[in-house]
Amino acid sequence: MAQTAQYIVKDHLNKIIDLLNQAYAEEWLAYYQYWIGAQVAAGPMRPDITAEFLEHANEELKHAGWLANRIIELGGTPVLSPDEWSHIAKCRYEAPSDPCIYKILEQNLTAERCAVSHYQQLCEICHTTDYVTFRLAEKLLKEEVEHEQEIEDFIHDLEFATRCGPQSE
Ligand SMILES: [Fe+2]
Ligand SMILES: [Fe+2]
Repeated sequence: MAQTAQYIVKDHLNKIIDLLNQAYAEEWLAYYQYWIGAQVAAGPMRPDITAEFLEHANEELKHAGWLANRIIELGGTPVLSPDEWSHIAKCRYEAPSDPCIYKILEQNLTAERCAVSHYQQLCEICHTTDYVTFRLAEKLLKEEVEHEQEIEDFIHDLEFATRCGPQSE
């Protein structure tokens, strides 16, 4: 618990802790969505795409750690039970029940776009009230935008593989 950090943001403390916990739950769900997607995915470019899924999964887990640290600095408690993740998260977890790699990429893209929009909102809320959380949200936003771009690139490549592959001739 960092007392000065709490004092600085005192008027917004509960709101910021709630938003950080929402993001924390979303990061854990994003971690699992990527990790389980890497296990079950099937289709073209599978080795490259699933390697990227696992890399993203590790980064989402790292994000959860950063958020937990900030929640604790502000005197809050990170969500303690996985049972609560899907209730608290506003970005929905989508189970990869269809192993088609294209479908899994689309699910991950939806999750990344949701994360981008939430970190943008967190930046807007914190940039005049809590510089430390603002810096954290900015760093997270940058990494989620990179994830979004990487998933978009794979979708683009898969679409080209279908259009430009041997079956299309
Ligand atoms: Fe993340
Ligand atoms: Fe991400």
